[in-house]
Amino acid sequence: MTNFQEIRQTEDVFQVATYKKMAIAVEGGRGSWVSTSDGARYLDLYGGHAVCATGHSHPHVVAAIRMQAERLLFYSNLVYSNIRARAAEKLVSVAPSSLSKVFFCNSGTEANENAMRMARMTTGREKIVTFSGGFHGRTADSISATFLGKYREIGRPNVPGHVAAEFGDIESVRAVADNRTAAIMLEPIQSMAGVREAPPAFFRELRGLCDELGIVLIFDEVQTGIGRTGNWFFGGSVLADFIEPDIITLAKSLGSGVPVGASIVNERISSSIKENDLGTTFGGGMLAMAAVLATLEAIEKDAMIENARAVEHLVRESLSSAPRIVQVRGKGCLLGIEFEDAVTAIHDRLLTRHRIITGTSSNPNVLRLLPPLCVTTEEVDLFLAALNE
Ligand SMILES: Cc1ncc(COP(=O)(O)O)c(C=O)c1O
Repeated sequence: MTNFQEIRQTEDVFQVATYKKMAIAVEGGRGSWVSTSDGARYLDLYGGHAVCATGHSHPHVVAAIRMQAERLLFYSNLVYSNIRARAAEKLVSVAPSSLSKVFFCNSGTEANENAMRMARMTTGREKIVTFSGGFHGRTADSISATFLGKYREIGRPNVPGHVAAEFGDIESVRAVADNRTAAIMLEPIQSMAGVREAPPAFFRELRGLCDELGIVLIFDEVQTGIGRTGNWFFGGSVLADFIEPDIITLAKSLGSGVPVGASIVNERISSSIKENDLGTTFGGGMLAMAAVLATLEAIEKDAMIENARAVEHLVRESLSSAPRIVQVRGKGCLLGIEFEDAVTAIHDRLLTRHRIITGTSSNPNVLRLLPPLCVTTEEVDLFLAALNE
């Protein structure tokens, strides 16, 4: 099937209609570009839904996956594996220094479910504090932790023990956190809420409060992790005033598109988890591990983290005094451009007239950019010129 209308019709007939789709069928990709069934090329500044950090089909990642697929696709954690050992070692080596072990799973929501479970097991407590505007996934516990739009409503009946505080407001956290709280979990930049940020001092205050009350601090870095903010992780970086959380959760970029999630934990957490406390058949499978290792290597080899900072600088410089733009928010290759009014028309026109894919958010006035970390300044310039027009 190569005809777009035919592809669309078949998908619409056979797939449950859970997403509002763009009217293109993507069939190929390289770097920041994807090609469609009609042979058109689109500049992808949404990175395949914040996933393709290394760009589409990065040659190093593709070669590693191909080699692993020929050798062995899968065996579970019931056996040891060289590729799993190397992926875990590499991931821990780039993580904040206090995070020393990883639990691999398959998605962001699963990484968060396991992080919350580990916090409950470590503390013997049940309550979880999250923040209004944060998004943590769609399985039962994660959706109950998501105080954004109608997600908790979709996820009813909710898991008990979830309460929300206001992002950036430590007094609101103090009002709900106590010595019955297992974890405080947050997206350090609230992406889906419209790229909302908090000052570094807020993260230091959170760390202090968690230490005072014995609470586990979880950073959901499903979007901010793996170099996207211009740092390997938000936790431990200058953005968090150098404080380190007890757990960082990851997915999206971690496997360059091969489904994989992870919770990286410190000694306090790992020493509380016993055999058979957690598990998942596919977590740590060889194909996913090859993708993780190659992704981390590609980011390092191609200096993508430095590039992410340059991208932020260029976008901020170019749009700081542009008309109709209220503010540019975010870090590195996670940017939100807030306009004076709704961005739907701009988003659609970038797509249909300029063949540039961008993202929206739950804030109707914010256009979201989550490009591959290897996007070039020339490619960003194409977007800036289109936006100007
Ligand atoms: C910050 C954050 N956490 C968790 C998730 C859930 O990840 P997944 O869709 O892989 O379950 C997402 C997905 O968009 C996310 O953005």
